[in-house]
Amino acid sequence: MIITIDGPAAAGKGTLAAKLAQKYNLAYFDTGMVYRAVGLQMILGGYALDDEEKAEFFAKSLTFPKMMELSKNSEFRSLDGSNAASAVSAINNVRKALLKMQQDFSHNPVFEDGTPAAGAIYDGRDTGTIICPHADIKFFITASPEIRAMRRFKEYQQKGVDIEYQKVLEQTIARDKRDYARAGSQPAADAIHIDTSDFSIEEVFNEVCKIIEKTVKKS
Ligand code: C5P
Repeated sequence: MIITIDGPAAAGKGTLAAKLAQKYNLAYFDTGMVYRAVGLQMILGGYALDDEEKAEFFAKSLTFPKMMELSKNSEFRSLDGSNAASAVSAINNVRKALLKMQQDFSHNPVFEDGTPAAGAIYDGRDTGTIICPHADIKFFITASPEIRAMRRFKEYQQKGVDIEYQKVLEQTIARDKRDYARAGSQPAADAIHIDTSDFSIEEVFNEVCKIIEKTVKKS
């Protein structure tokens, strides 16, 4: 079984996907990580984020183990890391270079320790449209920019990052604009839409589980 969860930054996709992967024993691919890995290498190497050739080089040479190694760096999920990921993800040749690695995972899903899994859950922006258009169930998860910015702001506060809410909101809106300007980032025609603005993660999780179980029963 392949499940995709797409939607804007901080809509709750990652938490939801991780919980679902655990409940249904599915391998989990957080596809934002491939762009974060390329973006981080640009930052570490001191390259300009619009250096398309360098970004394409890092994308072409990316492997799973390399991505996991880079994810341990504290900048991987920082605000700068997020902006770098968003910037390199707008480069067409970078997206092209990272496509196969993401698609291959659906044919051969594995858990973090390398053992094979019966299926996979993806989260990202284009997983239901470009990466896995034939997924069994597709979700499009969203929330208002203000609520998403507040969630990120609280995460930063917990990590002790000194930043104002207004700045996080501005970054959220700027990232949305960049992310949604490109093809494939619109919801798939057959995606189930869920607005998480007024719901807790538990409520969203329960609702999504009901939909999955109904779909599995039907098939
Ligand atoms: O989901 P996350 O915030 O980790 O993604 C980081 C960036 O990677 C996003 O802002 C987006 O620009 C890009 N991305 C993408 N396609 C995906 C997943 C993420 O372009 N499938």
